[in-house]
Amino acid sequence: MKGVILAGGLGTRLRPLTLVTNKHLLPVYDRPMVYYPIQCLLNAGINEILIVTGGEHAGDFLKLLKNGKQLGIRHLEYAYQEGEGGIADALKLAEDFADGQKICVVLGDNIIQGNIKKAAGEFFTQGSGAKVLLKEVPDPERFGVVRFENDDPSGRIVEIVEKPENPPSPYAVIGIYFYDSDVFGICQSLRPSGRGELEITDVNNAYLERGDLTHDIIEGWWTDAGTFDSLRRATNLVAEGGANLCELPKTPAGAGA
Ligand code: DAU
Repeated sequence: MKGVILAGGLGTRLRPLTLVTNKHLLPVYDRPMVYYPIQCLLNAGINEILIVTGGEHAGDFLKLLKNGKQLGIRHLEYAYQEGEGGIADALKLAEDFADGQKICVVLGDNIIQGNIKKAAGEFFTQGSGAKVLLKEVPDPERFGVVRFENDDPSGRIVEIVEKPENPPSPYAVIGIYFYDSDVFGICQSLRPSGRGELEITDVNNAYLERGDLTHDIIEGWWTDAGTFDSLRRATNLVAEGGANLCELPKTPAGAGA
């Protein structure tokens, strides 16, 4: 299985910080934000990775990550998203990279404490379709939220609603998704939502309608980091609780401070 990190968008909610670099290169505790989704994929044994980015500071990724070897990435590619047409718009750019294989997609501003190895293994043996990961949160209205059959969290998902005013459950769909190669046809068929984006929630609902969407509830904490509040929360969680962190690559000789 290959990995795709979506790190496009313009990060307008984090201005003025994002006027000088890409949101996903801002620090979360002791390392750039994008290290966490990379680590998440590597921890699951996924070491062929595509980073989709965009905006004026896309070149900063190359300066930081180069070919990824220093972080243990076996094969690293980049793609450039024009504008910010939404998560599913960014995902379209991964079709050639995926080359018919299953993929694990991680949003570049999502950080988890634990490991997705088990979910990745389950999805690998799942014949076709998609898999989403859920977490109970105190503020579901900020996310894609699931409605369970008979409101029973141990049961089937019947619908996913993007940023609902009245959340049908406290379970958010986190920004780590598993898809088969049909995902690209689904992305092509989408129409922009009210906020003018191709929504990943519409992709997941398409799999749901086919009866081909599984889910897991993750253990450990999860957060996004795309607003000042969530960026601070992410920094505190990482500092206090760790996030399955690797050792940072060594500073080049003579570059001490
Ligand atoms: O964090 C999980 C949530 O992420 C899900 O629960 C929601 O269903 C999903 O829509 C998304 O919600 P947000 O509105 O918070 O996503 P945001 O616009 O902040 O984008 C998240 C990441 O996706 C961002 O860090 C980079 C990538 N992205 C986003 C857009 C809009 C792109 O690569 N391209 C884009 O055009």
